Amino acid sequence: MNKLQKIYEQAKQRTANGQVASYIPALAAANGDLFAVSLLSAEQEIELGNCTETFTLQSVVKVISFMVAANYHGIEEIMHYVDVEPTGDSFNSIVRLESHNNKPFNPMINAGAITIASLLPGETMFEKVKSVTTFLEQIIGKKVHINNEVYFSEYQSADYNRAIAYILQANGFLKSDVEEALQVYLQLCSITVDVSDLAKIAFYFATNGKESEAICNKGVINIAKALMITCGMYNASGKFAAFIGLPAKSGVSGAIIAVVRNGEIEQLQGPIGIGIYGPAIDQVGNSVAGIDFLMHLSKEYDLFCL
Ligand code: DON
Repeated sequence: MNKLQKIYEQAKQRTANGQVASYIPALAAANGDLFAVSLLSAEQEIELGNCTETFTLQSVVKVISFMVAANYHGIEEIMHYVDVEPTGDSFNSIVRLESHNNKPFNPMINAGAITIASLLPGETMFEKVKSVTTFLEQIIGKKVHINNEVYFSEYQSADYNRAIAYILQANGFLKSDVEEALQVYLQLCSITVDVSDLAKIAFYFATNGKESEAICNKGVINIAKALMITCGMYNASGKFAAFIGLPAKSGVSGAIIAVVRNGEIEQLQGPIGIGIYGPAIDQVGNSVAGIDFLMHLSKEYDLFCL
């Protein structure tokens, strides 16, 4: 067993310390024992665990929707609607919606992501969702689908998000009506992927978008990476930056993307994208095994990049 496999096996034991997300009924059905990792360089991919499992992107999509909206409107315009400051609060918190001129703090919390959903290019809900799926499909090289069971389950239990959206609308931060913004946001959270797709998304950032059909302004990619560092791992982003030191984004499905700009992990060299699926999550919302894996990976392979 090589060093990488040992780190994987050790992290897999940690799944017992987390619990699958239960606040959305369809996510509560996931198997908390699962743990899969894909590491992708320009030349090859290493897969650990059951990499054929599919799951929904959840908050990982927030980075992609931000890029599509910022690419379309320009950074200056988008900053009128959403800031790029971390909060330290939980992802669905409403406490700061009455501070900071009522502007959502960043696109990685729900308030910012719902605002971004309303700003996506397109006249209809369908077109807005498509603007993101098209961009994503260019990155991962295949069609993506929405898991309707998860989407309807989320939509029916979206009281908090609906409350956030009404406050945003009252304060002039929504470009569409409340229901359309929620539908777009929740459909995007329900896009189905596997760990290999996640690794491709992470690899996109690792190469700053080179070698991909998905064209994005360099400044926007830089902001997306900065947002991952400062706000990507919910209110554990500070500790993640301090002890692991990689741009990363997680979702409550147990998905994580982590970006290695230049590293060496076993036979992989150069830019490396890491995709993780471990549905047993901690109190904050991050995959317990995923965090353990990245912590040891960063230390053992000297990946800290800040
Ligand atoms: O808004 C929700 O409840 C979820 N669909 C968001 C998912 C997530 O991963 C947490 N968000 N930051």
